[in-house]
Amino acid sequence: MLIKTKANILSSEITDRAVFESRREFIKAATAFSAGFLLPSLGQAETGKYADVPVGPSSAKLAVTDREDVAGYTNYYEFSTNKQDSTVLAQALKIKPWSVEVVGEVAKPGVYDLEDILKDNPVQERIYRFRCVEAWSMVVPWIGFPLGDMLKRFKPTSKAKFVEFTTFYNPEIMIGQRSGVLDWPYVEGLRIDEAMHPLAMMATGMYGDELPKQNGAPLRLIVPWKYGFKSIKAIVKIRFMENTPETAWHKSAPNENGFYANVNPEVSHPRWSQRRERVLGSSIFTPKRDTEKFNGYGAEVAGLYSDMDLKRYF
Ligand code: MTE
Repeated sequence: MLIKTKANILSSEITDRAVFESRREFIKAATAFSAGFLLPSLGQAETGKYADVPVGPSSAKLAVTDREDVAGYTNYYEFSTNKQDSTVLAQALKIKPWSVEVVGEVAKPGVYDLEDILKDNPVQERIYRFRCVEAWSMVVPWIGFPLGDMLKRFKPTSKAKFVEFTTFYNPEIMIGQRSGVLDWPYVEGLRIDEAMHPLAMMATGMYGDELPKQNGAPLRLIVPWKYGFKSIKAIVKIRFMENTPETAWHKSAPNENGFYANVNPEVSHPRWSQRRERVLGSSIFTPKRDTEKFNGYGAEVAGLYSDMDLKRYF
C-alpha cells in the first residue's frame, strides 16, 4: 500500500472541479454547491479523498501523494540542491506583487500583472502524475488553468513556433543562483503545439490551497507527460519564438537532458535507467512502479510526436 489514507484514483484523469479564483472563492463555491454538484470540498482535498473522481483511460491506479511529501521534498536549485533546504530557503521569495513579461512573436507583448492574468483565467483543480527525471514520482492535485488559454490571449503570431519560460533571477534572494550549478536564470521551453495542448497547465496552487513558495509560487508550469524539470517555477517571462529555446538543463548537459524530455521508460538516462520510479512517500520496502511512456498520458499526447524518433529527440 502506498499511502494508506488515500482512496485510489486514476491519476491521468483530469478532475474539473470548482471554478474559483482564490482559496476564499473556492471555499464559498464549495459551500454553495455542496449538494454534490461539485466534487469534494477543500477539506476533502486536504485529506485526499478522491473516490468520486471519474474513471479515465489510464492503466494504473495511484493514490494522491501526501501534501507534506510534496511540499517537503522540492527541487529548486535557485535556493539549494538539497531537497529539504530548498523548502526553507524558498520562503525568502516575495511573491506579491508579481508580473510576467511577454515578449517575442506576439501581437500583445507587455508586462502583465499576475492578478490580471488570474482574472482572465479561472482556476480549476487537476490531479496529475508527476515524474522527475531522477526516477521518483508523485500524484498532485494542482490548481491552475490551461496554459494554452493564457497564451492565446497574448495573440501569438504565425512565427511563434516555440515558447520559452524564464524564472525570477536575484542571487540576493535566490542564493543558489550564486553557484554555477546551472547557467542562470532557469529557462525552459515547449513547442507551441505542446504548449497549447489542453493537458499543459499553469499552476497557482495545490491541495486546495495556494502554491507553497518551494513548489514554484506564484506561477509555475506543469507538463505532466514530461520529466519534471520542464515544469519551471516562479515564471517572470514568456517569450514566443521562431526557433527552439536554449533551456537551462539542456545547456548544462545536452547528452542527458533533451529539449523534449518526454517521460520514456525505453530511453535510459546516460547514468540510470528510466524503467521504474520510486513513489514519493512510499516505504523502502514498497516495490518501485513501472514508468509509463508519456507518464501514462500517451492516449492524449502521443499524437504530438507521431513523426518523431523519440530516441533521438529525447
Ligand atoms: N524550476 C526552477 N526554476 N528551478 C528548479 O530547480 N526544478 C525542476 C522543476 N522546476 C526546478 C524547477 C525539477 S528538476 C523538478 S523535478 C520539479 O521542478 C520539482 O517540482 P517540485 O519541487 O514542486 O516537486
